[in-house]
Amino acid sequence: GEALKRAGREHPHDIRRVHVVGAGTMGADIAMWAASKGFVVTLQDQKPEILARAMARASAFCKKRLKDPRQVQETMDRLMPDLAGHGLRRAELVIEAIVEKIEPKQALFRMIEERAPATALFATNTSSIPLEVLAQGLRDPTRLVGLHFFNPVEKMQLVEIVRGEQSAEAALDRARAWTAAIDRLPLDVKSSPGFLVNRILMPYLLEAVILVEEGVAPEEVDRAAVEFGMPMGPIELSDTVGLDICLSVAEMLSGPLHIDVPARLRELVEQGRLGKKSGEGFYRYTGKGRSKHA
Ligand code: NAI
Repeated sequence: GEALKRAGREHPHDIRRVHVVGAGTMGADIAMWAASKGFVVTLQDQKPEILARAMARASAFCKKRLKDPRQVQETMDRLMPDLAGHGLRRAELVIEAIVEKIEPKQALFRMIEERAPATALFATNTSSIPLEVLAQGLRDPTRLVGLHFFNPVEKMQLVEIVRGEQSAEAALDRARAWTAAIDRLPLDVKSSPGFLVNRILMPYLLEAVILVEEGVAPEEVDRAAVEFGMPMGPIELSDTVGLDICLSVAEMLSGPLHIDVPARLRELVEQGRLGKKSGEGFYRYTGKGRSKHA
């Protein structure tokens, strides 16, 4: 706590308004977290029903976490759903958290550059796409950095600050300072495959999926990992991350990290079993939590 506060004082930042694009698993939680830390946040998604769900989730979370009703009200006042993306015009920081696919992200950044203030910092939450690839369409690629959050945002302290080949030092400084200002721990990484965390995590998750393919029950794999000391087993974690996200990341990393993508992962995604967010993945999820494996 104290170290973070010090970092905040040592790196004064100029960011007040934040615009987040993509209100799914990550975007919604990043937006809510930033609003709870005093930032004015606009949250955009292409689907109104997803925005509505994100706002409902934020409100429920605030009520649970912030005991003082006034604080809940103030946080929710700072978080605005923004279907049309009006918030872009005034944002000092724009965070992209849409699907893990190259073309939609590139197109989005081109649109963002047209509409956002010239001094705004651009960040992507991508898990696996090189920053250089996302920066390709930008007139000024120096303003793009990675801000790679982990799931669930409110529990995971670490944020990888990803340096692309063209990222400006000043942009990285601003990203680090802002991360500290929302009480998160910035970790500098290069835009190399998997950055630091996923380089270690993905082979572990995929190996667990291979065990399940070989006939070991998901519960058994997860129980062994938890007994070993992991806060959550690898199969449940894959469902939490989202199996479509796991698949995209695995495909992107398979070449550089020499890993095979398990067929089982692909099958589940093709069946629309995406994990917690779709109600079913390796496990089935009811309102009350995890049930027996599907
Ligand atoms: P998600 O599938 O839950 O949400 C993506 C959202 O983006 C959807 O609501 C979709 O409607 C919206 N969207 C898609 N294209 C759009 C566009 N052009 N304009 C506006 N909205 C658009 O995905 P999730 O899991 O939140 O992942 C988002 C990003 O965060 C990905 O780049 C992923 O690699 C990264 N990430 C995911 C983590 C996870 O645990 N799921 C962890 C860290 C990073």
